[in-house]
Amino acid sequence: MRNRTDAVLAAFATIAASAAVVAAPSSASAAGSAAAGQQVFARCAACHSTKPGENKIGPSLAGVVGRKSGTEAGYNYSPALKAANISWDEHSLDQFLANPAADIHGTKMFISVPNATDRQNVIAYLETLK
Ligand code: HEC
Repeated sequence: MRNRTDAVLAAFATIAASAAVVAAPSSASAAGSAAAGQQVFARCAACHSTKPGENKIGPSLAGVVGRKSGTEAGYNYSPALKAANISWDEHSLDQFLANPAADIHGTKMFISVPNATDRQNVIAYLETLK
């Protein structure tokens, strides 16, 4: 029994180690897969459109990478996000999506993406939205 547990733990350690290698950002371009990220985006689509200028419960995410936080025209942001003054890039989006409320206290966005690979992928997808 003990050996079997050890083997399972060793297998997990191997998987965790290889996942860390895959998730490590290698360059300025997206580390994730936009195709996989489109699947993750299903969690966002109820509140966010990918069409420019179309605001729903949340602001349109068209062109969000490279945009300043809280600046989508016609969207009524929380005072917290309006004041956040963040440039949305891979790093800042990763930090925000891991835990929005901790990143920007008082934001109306409360959906997080706890899995790092999912975050990399959805950010890669966001980069395709112009
Ligand atoms: C339940 C609705 C809801 C869901 C689901 C949701 N969001 Fe949001 N999101 C919001 C709201 C509301 C805001 C505006 C927050 C504010 O003003 O404080 C926001 C803001 C944002 C912003 C900041 C945009 C800007 O213009 O500064 C980003 C980026 C973002 N969301 C990404 C995502 C991603 C990626 C997902 C899916 C993983 C997601 N959101 C899922 C409601 C949601």
